Amino acid sequence: MVALLNQPFLASSLYVSPTVAERERQLYSNRLWHPLTSSTAIPEGHVQAFELLDVPLLVTRQGGVLRAFLNRCPHRAVALQQPSDGATPCRRLVCPYHGWTYDLEGRLMAAAREAEFLEPFNRDDWPLPPVRCRERIGLVWVALGDDPLPLEAQLDLLLEEAGESLEQPRQLLRRSALSLDCNWKIAHDNTLDDYHVAIAHPTTLHREQGPVRHYRHAVSDHATLLATPYPDGGELLTFGMAPWTHLLLWPDGRLALIQFPPLEVERCRMEIWLLGDAAFEAQADAWMEQLQHFLVEDKRLVEAAQLGYRSGFTPGPAHRLELRILQQQSLYRQLMGISDGERLA
Ligand code: FES
Ligand SMILES: [Fe+2]
Repeated sequence: MVALLNQPFLASSLYVSPTVAERERQLYSNRLWHPLTSSTAIPEGHVQAFELLDVPLLVTRQGGVLRAFLNRCPHRAVALQQPSDGATPCRRLVCPYHGWTYDLEGRLMAAAREAEFLEPFNRDDWPLPPVRCRERIGLVWVALGDDPLPLEAQLDLLLEEAGESLEQPRQLLRRSALSLDCNWKIAHDNTLDDYHVAIAHPTTLHREQGPVRHYRHAVSDHATLLATPYPDGGELLTFGMAPWTHLLLWPDGRLALIQFPPLEVERCRMEIWLLGDAAFEAQADAWMEQLQHFLVEDKRLVEAAQLGYRSGFTPGPAHRLELRILQQQSLYRQLMGISDGERLA
């Protein structure tokens, strides 16, 4: 922890550069796992399309096995389903362009007028391209690169602190999204920032998390935790993890996932998912409103910080309550190959 506190914050040049954003894609986001939805959202015999960082994906469940593919027909690249279709019961995936037909294991079962291809045609040569996919802590995870960190390493602190409670199946009760005019790292840093809560969220998040003197922190190689005592007993656990993800776990089993995937160098998306037992359905709208309330308080702060960073800012000193930011930045430096002086290796 002491070593972390001796690091400076990341240089502002890393928050405005298209070259850095491109390197992040290769060295950072492609090395990590991304949550796509809850496990319960894709029942047996269903298919759902997603878009993750501009990559079209398709997830299927067949014979109890969850699989992910590129949602891109090997013939002429058209998508087999649309994300707006949601989870759909499906026996065969039929491409809407020329009718190539796949099973839910990604095998090509039929192509129209098969005898008339210009080269000899073998169906086995044209499966849907597979994508790495796992289920853990009740969520569906995918990795886009060839060499991701082990998912269990990425989730190390979560499994250690709350493994049993997190593994419970949960319904995805609500989803909402908003775009922010800032680099994803500003938004992620801000949500890891335990120094600003009492000042910037006095009547919202601060009330939920309680006095700073009761904060408990934990840090691992890949994640951080702020645990705060909850009025009705137990603790509210606020995990921060790579790539740009936060999990809030309440003592009653409710789970909120907040993430900030990049859209452009200076713009990201704030996504909020609410997960829990179906019994929480009736209160899900009020719960979402409560979270949006403090996250919208952050919008003007993070967008102002982006303008400041763009003007050629040199970051000030880190506070003890900004330790979670320093941990995330240390992992970022490590994956990006950034050495002293903030130069890309
Ligand atoms: S693009 Fe799918 S069958 Fe041609
Ligand atoms: Fe905040």
